[in-house]
Amino acid sequence: APDILDSIRSTIRDVPDFPTPGILFKDITPVLANPTLLAQAIDGMIEATGLTEVDKVVGIDARGFIFGALIAERLGAGFIPVRKKGKLPWKTRGVDYTLEYGTNSVEMHLDAIAPGETVLLADDLLATGGTAGAALDLIQQAGGQVVGSTFFIELSFLGGRQRVSTSGPVHALITY
Ligand code: PRP
Repeated sequence: APDILDSIRSTIRDVPDFPTPGILFKDITPVLANPTLLAQAIDGMIEATGLTEVDKVVGIDARGFIFGALIAERLGAGFIPVRKKGKLPWKTRGVDYTLEYGTNSVEMHLDAIAPGETVLLADDLLATGGTAGAALDLIQQAGGQVVGSTFFIELSFLGGRQRVSTSGPVHALITY
């Protein structure tokens, strides 16, 4: 309902000049701290996908773990972490992606997703789409069938949706 989205939107805190001057950071911690809004955010992120069952939910390091794990639990799915390079203990595959300055790398365990499994990607934020795009590449390299991506926030002016939508339907609860 629109009133729920308004409550969530008004609870997201704008922090100017974080982490660097000129950036207006969208702080989601007040939403996470409110039990009603947290539950409604998770419900909304699931409802937006139209999915009622999926084999695995992939969440991206670090804030994507919060949303991904809660969504997985609600859908009765397994949770898979995509982590920044060097954090996962066992055998991994990695994908490099380009940032505004330099590159970054994310990894997933080799046995995280079995070929043919249905997979939903979840993260807190879709910005340029570089991170989510890399995670979707990892899922597809593992033979996973991407059934969608769901984000708590989309910064639509950064155009990330274009990059991510080549791998499946893209959903966002709150759009700026
Ligand atoms: C943030 C956010 C997304 C990513 C979005 O993660 O949580 O994962 O950036 O940006 P993009 O669409 O331009 O790739 P960050 O790297 O800050 O990690 P954190 O969650 O550990 O803070």
